[in-house]
Amino acid sequence: MSKTATAYTVWAQHYDCVPNPTRDADHAAMLRLLPRMAGCDLLEFGCGTGKNTVGFASVARSVWGLDASEAMLSMARRRTLPAHVHLTHVAVGAPWPTMSASMDVVTVSLVLEHIESLPQVFAEAARVLRPKGWLWISELHPIRQWQGSRAHFIDSTGRRHEPDCYQHGFSDYVDAARPWGFHLQEVEEPGDAERPRLLVMGFQLRPDGTNPVD
Ligand SMILES: C[S@@+](CC[C@H](N)C(=O)[O-])C[C@H]1O[C@@H](n2cnc3c(N)ncnc32)[C@H](O)[C@@H]1O
Repeated sequence: MSKTATAYTVWAQHYDCVPNPTRDADHAAMLRLLPRMAGCDLLEFGCGTGKNTVGFASVARSVWGLDASEAMLSMARRRTLPAHVHLTHVAVGAPWPTMSASMDVVTVSLVLEHIESLPQVFAEAARVLRPKGWLWISELHPIRQWQGSRAHFIDSTGRRHEPDCYQHGFSDYVDAARPWGFHLQEVEEPGDAERPRLLVMGFQLRPDGTNPVD
């Protein structure tokens, strides 16, 4: 089992209840986006315990939550989720089990920190999105990463659990997105303690739906 999978197996039981300002800032950012997701078919990559899934489900036509951690997915399944929500395990690096050009929105919250190579995620997002579809990415701000912050969890015995973490700068996201036909349309940097906490980016797929790297 990878370090990330091991960490989330332990973290899953506590993820929703331990203090976590980054989780909470991301939740607030996703709630602000809900009006943009009304009536959409939405894929949530790395849905975790379903913290954001509930809100997405309240406005979207369908929600497809994918995650590599069975433990995190089992916590999501404990929520009362409507029938148009589908939660599915996806192996790390595997193609998403979703038809091409079948989604209007893809969201990725606090996941890319755990993924070393970004292109596969953008390639899959471009494949599953319809023309002019939106990809929303919300990650711990690169400034915080450079200052040493990283996802971690301290259990009741005081033991620290750390998933694998990789640093990605703003330009890394933009450079990884461009070859797949994404245009960066919106950026938000919600912060606290006089520092940005999150980098939230809205990418839109080009209108003709063609993949420029084909
Ligand atoms: C910090 S949690 C965020 C969960 C949720 N998006 C949220 O904001 O509450 C990160 C999630 O990403 C998942 N994850 C990490 N690497 C992944 C990968 N390569 N494929 C799918 N899921 C992954 C983990 O299992 C975990 O559930």
